[in-house]
Amino acid sequence: MIRMNRRNVLKAGLGIAAYGTGLGAAIVSSRTANAANEIELEAVNAKALLDGQHLTDGVMTYRSLGEPDALMPPTLRAKRGEAFSAKLMNRLNEPTTIHWHGLRIENRMDGVPFLTQPYVYTGDSFDYRFAAPDAGTFWYHPHCNTLTQMGRGMTGMLIVEDPKDPQFDAEIALNLRDWRLGAKGEFIEQFKPRDAARNGTFGTVRGANWQVQPAYEAPSGGILRLRLVASDVTRIYQLRLEGADAEVIAIDGQPVPNRFRLETAVIGPGQRLDLALRMPDVEGSVVSLLDTRPSTAKTVATFQAIGQSLKHRLEELPPLSANPWQEPDLKNAEQIPLILSATAEGGAKESFCGSLGYTFWAINRVPWPGDSADPTAPLAELKLGKSYIFNLENLTPHIHPIHLHGMNFQVVASNMRQVPRLITDTYLAMPDEKVQLSLVADNPGDWVLHCHIIEHQKSGMTSYVRVT
Ligand code: C2O
Ligand code: CU
Repeated sequence: MIRMNRRNVLKAGLGIAAYGTGLGAAIVSSRTANAANEIELEAVNAKALLDGQHLTDGVMTYRSLGEPDALMPPTLRAKRGEAFSAKLMNRLNEPTTIHWHGLRIENRMDGVPFLTQPYVYTGDSFDYRFAAPDAGTFWYHPHCNTLTQMGRGMTGMLIVEDPKDPQFDAEIALNLRDWRLGAKGEFIEQFKPRDAARNGTFGTVRGANWQVQPAYEAPSGGILRLRLVASDVTRIYQLRLEGADAEVIAIDGQPVPNRFRLETAVIGPGQRLDLALRMPDVEGSVVSLLDTRPSTAKTVATFQAIGQSLKHRLEELPPLSANPWQEPDLKNAEQIPLILSATAEGGAKESFCGSLGYTFWAINRVPWPGDSADPTAPLAELKLGKSYIFNLENLTPHIHPIHLHGMNFQVVASNMRQVPRLITDTYLAMPDEKVQLSLVADNPGDWVLHCHIIEHQKSGMTSYVRVT
């Protein structure tokens, strides 16, 4: 497996790395777009070593034409506000699309079959072109046969850089996800209906960047930017660091207004976390990133300090530059109910991209799997430029990461916790939580809204809003 080597790390530490944010170019499968920012991504079948022991067949991934040997989907880089294009070539035996999670881009680039574009069939291609309005940590994945395609590998990171962002001594992007494999490394059934009706079905092999507990190096006494995405189809992470201090600098791609010390961060499928991690001074010290959920505690990855201490301090790190944001007008905002509930179990119509064959969940009492030609009415029709408050009520005993395409929410208030007024595309709703999420409907089109535990999404917890 590729590891950051010492030479690259030291180079970055000396500030002569080729790219703006330090180590970007040296990270596993990381890729900076060529001058024209034009990328070609092939959706392909592959074989990969996922459990560290067996070669797994039937893996599905994105391969960048510039990097034919890479297995994990490339970590793409774009610059805020600049033209970016990615041609998807479908070499799978089934249709697919790409959704750019968290990017507030034009509706026809959003990658949702029927709602925003046709399926991309085998042998066909689709040109995704956009300029990302926000800098931060984002990701991309299919919106078709999503549980299988994502479950078998198609989750990649997209980093949008801002030239004004502070310099870090190193940067590591970590794609957190698991695999559902049997004892010989073969894929086993992606879900159990019984679990789909509860917290979702968990992977059997835990991973980060397609490795089991990868080990990285970073400069001693340096400030490391750690970009994390929870791209797993099911798992909610409870992350903590051992051996170093870190500050949370961005959540879900958006800089936090006042960065704060990391104690434990809970992030659900779809969410991102950016940390500024201060590496220990003593060469050889190891920092561990831990997932501390009680039943499944696990070391996710480790970072070893190398070289002489740079003696940098977290306090000296300048803030990230803010992303553009229009404050919703809360006084005049229209209220919209958004009720998450279980629903009567039912069989669901066969549809290639859409259905798991079961219905367990609903939004505003309507179960819908999305990504299919069976129309349902939008959850709400929003007027372009107007402010809205979604009154989300989780009537289930489970946690749901609720994701909206094309626009961000700003958290107003929760009945359960003190929530800072974060801006986000994925809100992790706790059991029995009632939370108000506000937005200005500033992006025209039909935008899906769904739980990002993919089994929940595909067994009914999906809807959409229409902005005209
Ligand atoms: Cu990352 Cu429709 O989702
Ligand atoms: Cu859910």
